[in-house]
Amino acid sequence: MKTLCVNLGKASYPIHIGPDLLRQPQWILPHLAQPSCFIVTNTTVGPLYLPTLQDTLAQAGVRTQALTLPDGEAHKTRSALNQIHDALLTHRCERQTTLIALGGGVIGDVAGFAAATYLRGVPLIQIPTTLLSQVDSSVGGKTGINHPLGKNLLGAFYQPSLVLADTSTLNTLPQREFCSGVAEIIKYGLIRDLPFLHWLHQHLDALMARHPETLAEAIERSCSNKAEVVAEDEFETRGTRALLNLGHTFGHAIETGSGYGVWLHGEAVAAGMLLAADLSQRLGWISEGELTLITTLLQRAGLPLRAPNLGPERYLELMASDKKVAAGAIRYVLLDGLGQAKLTAHVDAGLVRQILTPGNGRFIALDGNVHPDTKTPPQG
Ligand code: NAD
Ligand code: GLY
Repeated sequence: MKTLCVNLGKASYPIHIGPDLLRQPQWILPHLAQPSCFIVTNTTVGPLYLPTLQDTLAQAGVRTQALTLPDGEAHKTRSALNQIHDALLTHRCERQTTLIALGGGVIGDVAGFAAATYLRGVPLIQIPTTLLSQVDSSVGGKTGINHPLGKNLLGAFYQPSLVLADTSTLNTLPQREFCSGVAEIIKYGLIRDLPFLHWLHQHLDALMARHPETLAEAIERSCSNKAEVVAEDEFETRGTRALLNLGHTFGHAIETGSGYGVWLHGEAVAAGMLLAADLSQRLGWISEGELTLITTLLQRAGLPLRAPNLGPERYLELMASDKKVAAGAIRYVLLDGLGQAKLTAHVDAGLVRQILTPGNGRFIALDGNVHPDTKTPPQG
């Protein structure tokens, strides 16, 4: 097992990464203010892992209650949040009751937001069970729900007291979900860790085959990057944390514009990173060769290479709701060389329209209804 730390002074917390951690109460017990927990999970993860977690805690003398929500991005809503609040109230959970999020990023985000708001805040433990949530969403304290007008528009910064990433849970993760998580792993290499990007080039096949040591190293190096960024800029006010949003301005537009759940988050981020890379290349910030390298890596990771053709105006409309918008201007995270990212509002809207126009843009589908599972390589 490997332990990393998110250094936030008094609010610092550990990230434990390793196999079979769900069966080991010693990692959770020190973080409980009283021997009672309320677990939030969903209809897919619950049957797989809730009994194990509840047994582990029961054997250590911890009382648990649980709520199982419907599965899917389409349920990252006010309704799910209300259900958690209702259940916490019905079960008379107290300020010292720890809320445990057991699941992927959707459960982590909505349960985290519930923990931030119930009784003005109760302790939170994140137990991420997807690759994406183990390398990204469980770390750093962003919680929230979607709105029909945009992704994650309602939420709070609320740090957990522990992240427990049991890598054994990834054994049951469907391949498409696994690929989605790899997109966020590649993101860290692209924005701030060139040695990690080179390592990924060398080890991607082993990673995709879920070779345990390679997988553990990829998770650790991703969490280490995320923890450093969060420690530097917890509330995304200094410009550093915003860089974690490479591909997300376009990606969130893809998710919202296609209907939540059609494109997986990591798929939308992958297609969004290529759009951002296309912009970067046209601005002269990365070379053609570097753009090809990014495309190849994402293709090898089984990720979609073309964003859906929603039409440039619809993209611009959706991106106008992005949380990074400042003084009415869309701010883009672009690549300033490989391993380095930059936040900028100075991008000509005409250029953005070009990359979003089929035929002109290299990473936009010719057919508006392209499904993310169609991994057609871009032409030219
Ligand atoms: P998800 O939570 O929808 O999980 C993906 C699917 O895998 C679901 O069907 C889920 O039930 C299933 N699943 C989970 N664990 C499993 C397991 N071990 N075995 C089998 N199936 C399993 O999606 P995700 O990719 O984990 O997370 C995406 C969400 O995370 C998005 O809503 C995104 O906005 C959010 N996110 C948040 C942050 C943040 O900083 N808070 C960062 C990145 C992404
Ligand atoms: N996933 C972006 C962030 O946590 O800031």
